Amino acid sequence: MINDDMTHSDHTDTTTSGAPAPADLRPLGATGLLASPVTVGTSGLGTPASADGSPGPGSTAFATAALRGPNLLVDTSNNYSDGRSETALGDAIRASGLPAGRGVVTKVDQDPSTAVFDRDRVLRSFEESLERLGVDRIPILHLHDPYSVSFAEASAPGGAIEGMLALKEQGVVDAIGIAAGPLSVMLPYVLSGAFDVVLTHNRFTLVDRSATALLEEARSRGMGVFNAAPFGGGLLAGRRGTDGKPSTYAYQAGSPELLAWVARADEVAARHGIPLAAAALAFSTRSELVDSTVVGMNRLERLEQVEALRTTTIPDDFWSDLDALGTPPSTLTD
Ligand SMILES: NC(=O)c1ccc[n+]([C@@H]2O[C@H](COP(=O)([O-])OP(=O)(O)OC[C@H]3O[C@@H](n4cnc5c(N)ncnc54)[C@H](OP(=O)(O)O)[C@@H]3O)[C@@H](O)[C@H]2O)c1
Repeated sequence: MINDDMTHSDHTDTTTSGAPAPADLRPLGATGLLASPVTVGTSGLGTPASADGSPGPGSTAFATAALRGPNLLVDTSNNYSDGRSETALGDAIRASGLPAGRGVVTKVDQDPSTAVFDRDRVLRSFEESLERLGVDRIPILHLHDPYSVSFAEASAPGGAIEGMLALKEQGVVDAIGIAAGPLSVMLPYVLSGAFDVVLTHNRFTLVDRSATALLEEARSRGMGVFNAAPFGGGLLAGRRGTDGKPSTYAYQAGSPELLAWVARADEVAARHGIPLAAAALAFSTRSELVDSTVVGMNRLERLEQVEALRTTTIPDDFWSDLDALGTPPSTLTD
């Protein structure tokens, strides 16, 4: 759901609910919609669950703040935290409303029991999301991680793409997107011309640029671009494993070469007096290939911290010093 004036670029004042309007809004490709430089990612919202299976303590408070914070959009999915991410957002919307101009972006997922991902499952998944969120429409709906079907199956009559197009035709979504990881999965969806928006993750960051050609293709088609996981899931924002050492990139063990490169990048950032996380965020937010960068957040303090990172000035010399470290050895192969 989105409040009426998301398609206008006059968010310079406070909204009717008193929430400050996000700054630096930009068009989301040719969709006619707007996005702020950062979108709040909520894949971890609601986890851990409470004993009764509802979103854990603090989830609704975070959701309420996220919908009123510095960013225009919140990104969720039918399957995030087994539905608790959407439930927490819905609880917040039912209790406090959705401020003018703000929006929740969600995604349709395969059937969790059967892995079926066809037209009917798309429509059911969307209905489940509306129910949890307590809204009657969605501004941007992504087809999420369509790994249980081939592109041929998804694009055949009765397939998932038909379901996405049907929802757009009904006017219950404004724009449809494809959101997934492997580039070989993403490319046919982008080339199909059916989608208005693309969401890539972990593949356009300080340490991995492998989505560049995909995003250029999307741009040439006027698609809106979300770039998710600018910290590679946390590594580039200082996340450490239980042993206190950096360990994973894109949810997989990072190679010793990658972790060593990140340690050197950390030193370069420290020499310039900035957190590496600020540079990791700026890499994405300053790119002309990206409309909005989706950052995972699950705690209240992260909203302001990420805004502080976003508005950190990165010295020009930092980028040349980083380049001097050579090509980062990403661990992703597709
Ligand atoms: N297929 C898809 O559609 C897809 C795939 C991946 C991601 N996404 C979307 O993109 C979002 C972002 O991905 P992600 O969460 O995996 O990766 P990410 O944004 O690269 O990293 C998020 C992690 O960085 C840490 N962090 C955030 N802000 C920080 C700060 N100011 N200082 C220090 N650490 C900070 C957080 O750790 P703490 O937990 O310690 O706060 C958080 O868990 C997801 O939530 C989801 O909405 C979509």
